[in-house]
Amino acid sequence: MAHLRLVALDDVVVFPGMPVTLPADVGGDTRAFLIPRHGSGYAKVGVVAEVTERVAIGGRGVASFMPLHRAVPGAAQTGADGVLRVEVEERPDLDPAPAETRALEREYRAVVEEILELRGDDGRISAFVRSITHPGALADTAAYSPDLNFDQKRELLEALEVVERLTLALRLQQERLAELRVRKRIRDEVESGAQKQQREYLLRRQMEAIRKELGENEGSVAEEYRKKIADAAMPPAVQKQAEGELARFERMGESNAEASMIRTYLDWLLAVPWSTRSEERLDPQHAREVLDADHAGLDDVKRRITEYLAVRKLRKERGLTDDRRSGAILTLIGPPGTGKTSIGESIARATGRKFVRMSLGGVRDEAEIRGHRRTYIGALPGRLVRALRDAGTMNPVIMLDEVDKLGADWRGDPSAALLEVLDPAQNHGFQDHYLDVELDLSQVLFLATANVTDTIPGPLLDRMEVIRFDGYTTEEKVAIARDYLWPRQVERHGLDATDVAIDSDVLRLVITHYTREAGVRQLERELGTVLRKTAARVAAGEVPKPVVIDPAAALEALRRPRFHQEVAARTGVPCVATGLAVTGAGGDVLFVEAASMAGKAGLVLTGQLGDVMRESARIALTYVRSHASELGIDEGTFEGREFHVHVPAGAIPKDGPSAGVTMVAALASLLTGRPVKSALGMTGEVTLQGLVLPIGGLKQKVLAAHAAGLTEVILPERNAPDLDDVPTDVREHMRFHPVKTAEEMLALALEPRPLAMAA
Ligand SMILES: Nc1ncnc2c1ncn2[C@@H]1O[C@H](COP(=O)(O)OP(=O)(O)OP(=O)(O)O)[C@@H](O)[C@H]1O
Ligand SMILES: [Mg+2]
Repeated sequence: MAHLRLVALDDVVVFPGMPVTLPADVGGDTRAFLIPRHGSGYAKVGVVAEVTERVAIGGRGVASFMPLHRAVPGAAQTGADGVLRVEVEERPDLDPAPAETRALEREYRAVVEEILELRGDDGRISAFVRSITHPGALADTAAYSPDLNFDQKRELLEALEVVERLTLALRLQQERLAELRVRKRIRDEVESGAQKQQREYLLRRQMEAIRKELGENEGSVAEEYRKKIADAAMPPAVQKQAEGELARFERMGESNAEASMIRTYLDWLLAVPWSTRSEERLDPQHAREVLDADHAGLDDVKRRITEYLAVRKLRKERGLTDDRRSGAILTLIGPPGTGKTSIGESIARATGRKFVRMSLGGVRDEAEIRGHRRTYIGALPGRLVRALRDAGTMNPVIMLDEVDKLGADWRGDPSAALLEVLDPAQNHGFQDHYLDVELDLSQVLFLATANVTDTIPGPLLDRMEVIRFDGYTTEEKVAIARDYLWPRQVERHGLDATDVAIDSDVLRLVITHYTREAGVRQLERELGTVLRKTAARVAAGEVPKPVVIDPAAALEALRRPRFHQEVAARTGVPCVATGLAVTGAGGDVLFVEAASMAGKAGLVLTGQLGDVMRESARIALTYVRSHASELGIDEGTFEGREFHVHVPAGAIPKDGPSAGVTMVAALASLLTGRPVKSALGMTGEVTLQGLVLPIGGLKQKVLAAHAAGLTEVILPERNAPDLDDVPTDVREHMRFHPVKTAEEMLALALEPRPLAMAA
């Protein structure tokens, strides 16, 4: 048994074969006993080490040791030199090691190999491990592992038996291996997760490209919607709604019946051009040029439009925001074919906006405007949403055509919905029932058209700024035909200005003999007919160019004149008076015929007269009867006679009070035998007292009188200021007689002398 100097190692464990250098004074000893210590507790086993070097640094000894083998400490005593020595029982490993270590050793080597592999060893450590042949020393290599703590190392040192030690080392290494494996798996998983995403992304991109190539868009429908929604730049609330519906769609699966309804809904939501606007052109001068290029005359409309643009421009320049209460809706009212719709298109062109026409004729259902709620089968959005889709912008010109032909019934009143649309204070938050989101219509420029004002719902009319189109005079029509209609038709028939020529006189002939209208639609058709025949001849090479359309050629192409100046033929006989009326088709002349016969006293009215007109007939008869003596009519004439008033053409409904004077004239003419002057037309309401009250539509009536070849017009005195609206060239050709009473009217209208006739 040896007595060796004790060197305590604080929190360090050394194993045989592992050289260490420590601050220790070993005197002249060649061997020492190194024992691990933690606090005041010593390990049960230490190592016997050879002192390989000793030096003194700064008065303290430092020594290098080569541990040789394990040893178990026994009793300790301090010697005479004051050095603590212990009695140690040396326990070198048995050599050769017991046979049962073989299997353990193989197992241990395998585990270590795997650990080294996982740690990415370059081969040096495994070569070192392989060079160790003794199983005991092999087990001690476990101590090199950086992962072992003091206690584990101490335990390893205390395992004196090789089998026990190797078993312990194996367990420790297996634990490390398991831990390393888990770490690697986690790392791999993280890594492969990232790679998988990348892979999926690439595959998706490829799939998309392939699908595009094949022109298919099956597959992930939801994905596509998501993309479209993201691209649509919707207002936040709308986008939220769209995303919500999409999520519902995804949960449901594509085959579900409701899924297709959601798709339809999303399609509509995406069809609204949420963020698209036309660049608005606010240049009044440019606008005027465009309007002039498309339409002759119509000065009033053009001025109103340019004023509107000028105001907007000014507000913009001054940095004023759009005033929500400022915009009344421009409403163009007038007979057919006077250019209402087409000037709407010009307005869009002049302001750089898109144009959409929305015909309201016959719309009786509020849902037509606002859409059906989605709970209805086959629900659809209303016309406004469709108009925006068609326009493709949020600021088009939308023309509400034929607002006078709106209906209303149990399905709800469409004009109520229109009211909201047209109200600038509300229409930035318009709700379509189907889309169920707020739609900003405040950028839309609304225009409306109608033939007459009477049937436009009152509250709607109230919000409108009415511009009247009263129809054109013959001369205006000649100008329109020459500058616009004729060139357009020439082009449409594949001809040009070198092929055909026409002069104003011929145009005038076509206008007066073949058309009877306030507008120019029929005129354009007739010109088309002329050109069709001409084009055929030009194509056949029959005639030298240019073909000049003279009156004969026009008559040949158009056959028999459709309209005769029938006024002269109809009047000039007693009992017939010429009235002036306004119908949906513009102004017109109408003839009132009166007759009497034996029978029970009374009044028969024919010609599809409305209630108001029937009443004027009764008033007229009463007036004539009560003023019989002034008119030189024998009271007895009325006894036992039945009167009949007829207004041709019998198939066309007529109404209104303005034929009053005409009825009085017809009855007075019948009873006095004095004919009504032949070139005279009249209009005015009559009261029982014989006062002549003002009427509407004077300009249209005068134009119609002029077109029909009349030269004199009797009108209520209070309408005299309206004559300012009548174009000068018409005014110059006619004489006007404003009257206050029926008496004045009769004095002017009846020829002084009766014709011999049978009443
Ligand atoms: N002042 C004008 N200058 C040039 N062309 C005109 C003019 N007025 C009308 N037209 C032409 O007459 C045709 C008929 O006009 P449009 O269709 O606009 O009539 P409208 O007033 O809308 O009639 P409706 O009340 O029947 O809808 C169009 O081709 C239009 O270009
Ligand atoms: Mg129209």
